[in-house]
Amino acid sequence: MTAPEPTGIVVLVSGSGTNLQALIDAAADPAYGVRILAVGGDRAGITGLHRAAAAGITVFVCRVEDFDTRAEWDAALAERIGDHEPAFVVSAGFMKLLGPQVLGRWTVLNTHPALLPSFPGAHAVRDALAAGAQQTGCTVHVVDAGIDTGPVLAQATVDVEPDDTEDTLHERIKAVEHPLLVEIVGRAAREGITVSDGKATIP
Ligand code: GRF
Repeated sequence: MTAPEPTGIVVLVSGSGTNLQALIDAAADPAYGVRILAVGGDRAGITGLHRAAAAGITVFVCRVEDFDTRAEWDAALAERIGDHEPAFVVSAGFMKLLGPQVLGRWTVLNTHPALLPSFPGAHAVRDALAAGAQQTGCTVHVVDAGIDTGPVLAQATVDVEPDDTEDTLHERIKAVEHPLLVEIVGRAAREGITVSDGKATIP
């Protein structure tokens, strides 16, 4: 039996791209059902884009500072994503708030390094440590217009150790984040994802 056509996705990155790498590795297996059509970055020269290029994936850069307004950047990003006609978009460490042009056109999955709704925002690991949390983790959720407020699809928990630094804790979070993101993106690709009334479900 031949495998069904894979579902095409676009992945957005801002940094080291270890989550992207986990997706690239998973997508090497046709049974995973995902083809990464392109990887977009909010700046050039980042490791995430190098990882994509090394895997033979088309990359593009869409920088906020190249546009007069955030709305123009949003429209340009939507156009760059749209060039590849993905079924959905994955934000894998993309550190910019997405606008209505992108969010109105695609379901966007995001991975966040905390147990939402705790510790939203750009410094989730630092904030969990500062609050003295004994457990934290990661969340895969659907992006809405808020800051890490969209409906949760899955979470994984990590114990905070007494001698943890932001780096050691983030590394242990990434160890559970990578397989969780791979699992949820694969299921969303193979089974579909529905978002309605502020709830997201994969059948
Ligand atoms: C991840 O922990 C993600 O949750 C957060 O930023 C980190 C990105 O890591 N938003 P990487 O670029 O995938 O290595």
